[in-house]
Amino acid sequence: MKVLVATDKPFAKAAVDGIRSIVDGAGHTLALLEKYTTDDELYNAVKDADALIVRSDKITSEVVCRASNLKIVVRAGAGYDNLDLTACSEKGVVAMNTPGQNSNAVAELAIGMMIYLSRNCFNPGTGSELKGKTIGIHAYGNVGKLVAKLAKGFDMNVIAFDPFVDSAKIIADGVTPVSTLEELYEKSNFLSLHIPANAQTKGSVGYDLITRMPKGGCLVNTARKEVINEAELLKALEERTDLKYVTDIPADNQAILNEKFGSRVFASPKKMGAETAEANINAGLAAANQIVQFFATGDKTFQVNK
Ligand code: 3PG
Repeated sequence: MKVLVATDKPFAKAAVDGIRSIVDGAGHTLALLEKYTTDDELYNAVKDADALIVRSDKITSEVVCRASNLKIVVRAGAGYDNLDLTACSEKGVVAMNTPGQNSNAVAELAIGMMIYLSRNCFNPGTGSELKGKTIGIHAYGNVGKLVAKLAKGFDMNVIAFDPFVDSAKIIADGVTPVSTLEELYEKSNFLSLHIPANAQTKGSVGYDLITRMPKGGCLVNTARKEVINEAELLKALEERTDLKYVTDIPADNQAILNEKFGSRVFASPKKMGAETAEANINAGLAAANQIVQFFATGDKTFQVNK
């Protein structure tokens, strides 16, 4: 079988070497398409691929239709909003993710971004500390749980909201669950977003929630830009000159935000939450192993288009 790794943002070399060794070891063939710049390059590369490993690369119905041999696509990472699941299902392609494999890298970045904004983006001037502040975790999944653990190490007060997680499990981690989203935002000096981007969450974080944050509140987005209502974020930042926004995924109108709000906002130039060698190795090798298992035994454990 031909396994294609198609990554606009390439994996670290050690991860590619590891993927190659797993794929070769199982008797399959590895092909690489890195740093491609046009859809045509991707269309051409997928033509004879039986399996596909991607990161945030968009696997649209056009891609799926051109990949007539494709049996499985694995998103080496958590969020699979870049995969057209309907197109995959229609063509009988199994879609998977690799949950938890890059969570630590994202959690560390969330804490790093909080420190960066609290210290005036490392510009001269008096900043503030994380110690003693309250951090609200919006969605207590793999990343949220790790951010909570790290925040406790900074002596922060950690609260969380997640209707899909049993409160007892949150309490067991020494984290206080709150019963409404409104309460979470009202109590959080730092609000760390960990919701996926889907039909329910897109545009769901807007003016009403953001302006509930206490004076000096900082919204931290290492999730997806799509979960933010950008126009309402802009309005909130204009009206509440004490609020801050730090994001790993530049807003569509990030240049306007930067110009208007200066060091109250910061965005990574390109999403870098999972950009560590460790995360690349964890997620890349997991993806390769899942493909090998799928071909060997039909294992669909991490399928997301059931
Ligand atoms: C994820 O959903 O796993 C992260 O957003 C990482 O995305 P990336 O592989 O494009 O860095």
